Amino acid sequence: KKVKLKIPATVANLVCGFDILGMAVNEPYDEMEIRLLETPEIIIKHTDSFGLPEEPSKNVAGVVLSKIQEHFNLKNGFEVIIHKHIKPGSGLGSSAASAAGAAVGANIVLGNLMSKDEMVHFAMFGEELASGVRHADNIAPCIYGGITLVKSTDPIDIIPLNAPNLFVAAVHPQVEVKTSDSRQILKKNITLKSAVEQWGNIAGLVAGIEKNDFALIGRSLNDVIIEPVRSILIPRFDEIKSKSLQLGALGGGISGSGPSIFMLAEKKETAEKIAELMKTIYDEIKIDNFVYISKIN
Ligand code: HSE
Repeated sequence: KKVKLKIPATVANLVCGFDILGMAVNEPYDEMEIRLLETPEIIIKHTDSFGLPEEPSKNVAGVVLSKIQEHFNLKNGFEVIIHKHIKPGSGLGSSAASAAGAAVGANIVLGNLMSKDEMVHFAMFGEELASGVRHADNIAPCIYGGITLVKSTDPIDIIPLNAPNLFVAAVHPQVEVKTSDSRQILKKNITLKSAVEQWGNIAGLVAGIEKNDFALIGRSLNDVIIEPVRSILIPRFDEIKSKSLQLGALGGGISGSGPSIFMLAEKKETAEKIAELMKTIYDEIKIDNFVYISKIN
């Protein structure tokens, strides 16, 4: 049995919802082919030139498949061919796409053994390999689609939310920001005052998403805890954010742990203008960059 999948990029955190909110977008996406083997080996092949490891124990998809194989006592193995288009290290859920794709693909070739939450459970082992943390804010929207709230990972409690009809402009400036580093620099303690502000924003954002209230979404896309620390790693972040808002973005910020920046917009033309602005700013300072215009998927 064999399956070919398209796996979406994801934007984790959605600014204020560190480690709990995320959304899937339709650009960029990975493609993955998974074949069930009669023999127990796991074979991983990449058709891209990112140089990701292919040894199963060092590969995000490989680890997920080993865990599935072990858990279900399978005599079968898997052959996986990954066509990666979501750039590793972009903050657009590249590792989550490999992990989620492996879990979803395995589930299909095995005849739907697993629930979505079980797939999230196995895919988190891939995230753990990639960043050292079992977070599901990229994996959950990748598997469920749209926007998801990870209410908890232990036990897994995922709440799929409404997917508002919004456009997303995103830029990936090619500066290196490792998820592990950008987690390490975060403050370990926060004040009650910032916590209150932050949960006001998260609650406002979730309510705005559910009610399709774009103005509420816009004024809730604020982060007083993570963004002030991490944005220092992203050249021209403040300028891109403020100019995007002037161009009509509802709001936005760092995608996942960065360095990508995303902005939400009601109209495609606005998203296009924002993408152009992002490109111009990074071209000006000679930082290679990739821009994407997409929709919440
Ligand atoms: N929530 C995670 C973080 C996402 O911000 O570190 C990393 O992809």
